[in-house]
Amino acid sequence: MLADRRGHAVTAELPPSCGALSSALIETLEDGHPLGSPTVGSSDPYGDDLQLALYIAYEMHYAGWAGVPDDREWDPEILTFRRELERHFLDAVHTDVGPADDFSSAHTEMNRLCVEPADGDGVSFILRDSGSWQQFRDMFAMRSLYHLKEADPHAWAIPRLRGAAKAAYVAVEFDEFGGGRAEAVHQELFADLLAAADLRPDYLAYLDGAPGWALAPVNLMSLFGLHRSLRGATVGHLAATEITSPPGSQRLLSGLERLDAPETCRHFYAEHVEADAVHEQILRHDVVGELVRAEPDLEADVVFGIRGFLLVEDAFDRGLRSVWEQGTVLV
Ligand SMILES: [Fe+2]
Ligand SMILES: [Fe+2]
Repeated sequence: MLADRRGHAVTAELPPSCGALSSALIETLEDGHPLGSPTVGSSDPYGDDLQLALYIAYEMHYAGWAGVPDDREWDPEILTFRRELERHFLDAVHTDVGPADDFSSAHTEMNRLCVEPADGDGVSFILRDSGSWQQFRDMFAMRSLYHLKEADPHAWAIPRLRGAAKAAYVAVEFDEFGGGRAEAVHQELFADLLAAADLRPDYLAYLDGAPGWALAPVNLMSLFGLHRSLRGATVGHLAATEITSPPGSQRLLSGLERLDAPETCRHFYAEHVEADAVHEQILRHDVVGELVRAEPDLEADVVFGIRGFLLVEDAFDRGLRSVWEQGTVLV
């Protein structure tokens, strides 16, 4: 098993399946037998099974899977299946964010993201005001599906940008990847957070049993990032991520202070309060502003990326709150 300098696994074992789609994909990755043609069209585009299958397919482009040959990343049968999965997911996202005719300018959409609800009842508000340490640990585990690969999905867009937008975009990504210091890579900061919270810091340790609502935010950014045709959506997604991060991270930091949580856990969010206030400005003006000026045809895609981000993040929020309302513990 490959491990990082702290001894954490960096490649995960394939998870158990949770339906026909994930089962077919896992079986072909495990023993190489033909994938067949599992039916995608009738499945729930946000459901556990489709989202897990998509997550597994995308992971071939990130760290791969233990025991699966790396060159199966380009297995035509798997790529064709992935295309069917992502078309079904993307069609649902398009439908749910509404028609492009209704989109405002990217500038207006970004401004909307800054409007904070006075009486918010989302996860970060609960964790700030009354959430328990166990609820924080649930959130950490579900967010580990992204934060242990934080900034990687957006990095796919780098070769697809040019000029001023590219220079500014890379400056933000450079910070996310630690600015040249391994111990400051945000992925590593999150692994440290998991260890400090007595959770498993191994890569994708919490993928087993993760619900579709926890997988969809990561799958959406992989989908955007891996398609040149969706580079505008990737930029919009990163802009939405950076604009909404400082207030959300501040709420989580306040909750961790209220609970006197380990300093390592607080540090991850403190870093995001500070760094993302700068990243937000860079994204707004130097990335989105410059991209839309240079390629005005991409503005609708930038807005789509912002709205898609909100759609899957809202679902994540509702999913986690419903787990808590049922009195269930995730980890
Ligand atoms: Fe970050
Ligand atoms: Fe950031």
